[in-house]
Amino acid sequence: MSDPYSDLAGQNQSTQALIADAMEARCMEPAQIAIRRAYLSGLSVPADAFAVEFGSGTGHVTSDLIAMAGATRALGIEPSPVMVARAQAHFADDPRLSFKTGDAKRTELQDATVDLVLMHTLLCHVPEPQEVVAEAFRILKPWGQLAICDGDYDTATAQIADYDPLDQIIRFMINQNVTNLWIMRQITEILTGAGFTLGPRQGHGYVAEGEATYFMTVISRGADRMMETGLLFPETAQALKDEAQRRVEADKFFGFMSYVSQIAIKPGTA
Ligand SMILES: C[S@@+](CC[C@H](N)C(=O)[O-])C[C@H]1O[C@@H](n2cnc3c(N)ncnc32)[C@H](O)[C@@H]1O
Repeated sequence: MSDPYSDLAGQNQSTQALIADAMEARCMEPAQIAIRRAYLSGLSVPADAFAVEFGSGTGHVTSDLIAMAGATRALGIEPSPVMVARAQAHFADDPRLSFKTGDAKRTELQDATVDLVLMHTLLCHVPEPQEVVAEAFRILKPWGQLAICDGDYDTATAQIADYDPLDQIIRFMINQNVTNLWIMRQITEILTGAGFTLGPRQGHGYVAEGEATYFMTVISRGADRMMETGLLFPETAQALKDEAQRRVEADKFFGFMSYVSQIAIKPGTA
């Protein structure tokens, strides 16, 4: 199966709703919020800054552009109407935030009108990331900033010992749900090739905590998918889900992945 996030609007409604639930669970985890704060709160934006998130999903990360990065207004652009409707409903009371359906490769925004562009866990799902980076360059003002953060997916694991069967589900899900596992190891060349100057790069370790809500959604969807593809019998899929849940209840669960963030600046004249 190809990465469903690369064409979310083309998935059926129930798949989009399931993915939206998982996305929201991930956004709200304190460890994930800490990652976003670590690279967004250090940005310095001009007064009355306009920020845009490409691939805004359920909109929570778009709202960070105001709460963490200090923008005055923020727009989220997202191809899936299901996600856009969720974001609009959730943030209906905040006039500083807006959301629209669209493609990050063709935003229809004017040249040099945006102060800050954000791509949070977007580029790993896009087959031609150079086109998205070029679009950010086009719409940014001189000295405008691009903030990119994505998983370093080869580091994703739930393994607690040799030959741990739960880890196979994580590997399976990463391979089914990510188009480019290596995007953050390749991003600097893409950015300089588009004309950007490189700013700070940071690594962020994500360790699942408490109920491990996001990892549980990954294991549950992964076990179901292994069953749908005929790899597992239903009883085995259920047993793996139960194993993960029992580990959480017994304080034995471990889930980890590294994220990397990179800031880039569109050069201006002195
Ligand atoms: C993993 S989700 C991340 C959503 C949000 N940034 C977050 O962190 O919660 C990736 C999102 O990128 C969107 N996406 C995929 N291809 C896109 C494209 N070409 N233009 C804009 N968004 C895209 C998907 O529909 C999905 O909502």
